[in-house]
Amino acid sequence: MLLHTIKEVRDQVKEWKKQGLTVGLVPTMGALHNGHLSLIKKAVEKCDKVVVSVFVNPIQFCPGEDLDKYPRTLEADEKLCNDTGVSIVFAPTPNEMYGNTPQRSNDFLTYVVPPFFYVNKLCGKSRVGHFDGVCTVVNKLFNIVQPDYAFFGQKDAQQLVIIKKMVKDLNIPVEIVPCPIVREASGLALSSRNKYLSEDDKIQALALNKILNNIKDCYKQGITDVKALKETAYNFLNEHHELEYLEFCDADNLEDVTTANDNTRVFIACRVGGVRLIDNILLGE
Ligand code: PAJ
Repeated sequence: MLLHTIKEVRDQVKEWKKQGLTVGLVPTMGALHNGHLSLIKKAVEKCDKVVVSVFVNPIQFCPGEDLDKYPRTLEADEKLCNDTGVSIVFAPTPNEMYGNTPQRSNDFLTYVVPPFFYVNKLCGKSRVGHFDGVCTVVNKLFNIVQPDYAFFGQKDAQQLVIIKKMVKDLNIPVEIVPCPIVREASGLALSSRNKYLSEDDKIQALALNKILNNIKDCYKQGITDVKALKETAYNFLNEHHELEYLEFCDADNLEDVTTANDNTRVFIACRVGGVRLIDNILLGE
């Protein structure tokens, strides 16, 4: 069932709750691919009813980012959800979510602002305000759907840590279910933004996963010095790559790490053909 208004979703969820059914939420920005699908399948398996939100959230895009050209494929998304046993696809308009509030202005909108320590690194450094936008919309979705479980991918591992922190700090009654990264057979992590890549770019994009796997191999061979591990990356980079960051952080609290251990997550962001791609790997897995 495709719903566009908050009221319709609330009314439907109220009915389910009366019947004692558990509700799962999978927040997405649409252009659904097998990565999203893995979250949706997990939700359908675990919960009686599943809501998938499809909303390209304007307030999490920075000026100059791809808000206008972000792929929008609602009809195909709805079909995929229907075929997978989803009960509601919630696709609100920006106006339904934010009213006439000027977009991206915290002069006029109440924001949920995650702690500086968690956002002043990795993607948050170049995408200033991004995680305020993410936490604000996810919090709104939690209030609208009131799910028992919400499903998020490790593909966006910083986002996942920040959402878990928000849920804990604000006592939101939802259980966050982390889901593993889904990759193409080539190793490229699936992303809606892969649609922007040419065939050549796609080959160059494999460097991200190769760098991470190579670091993990070196770690397994006993190298734990982060400086030494970082240096191994340069063998895989060429003029097609614009490395934004390669960082080693504690998987749970994002603290910087100088000596790697099993709970270290390696994060990479790199531009290929002008497209910003991210990936990560947990060394102990
Ligand atoms: P979006 O990029 O559409 O991703 C929706 C969810 O799918 C996120 O939890 C993301 O981590 C997960 N996902 C994407 N690609 C994946 C992959 N290859 N493997 C596993 N999971 C994957 O993330 C967002 O939207 C937004 O920030 C959102 C949370 C919806 C708030 O607007």
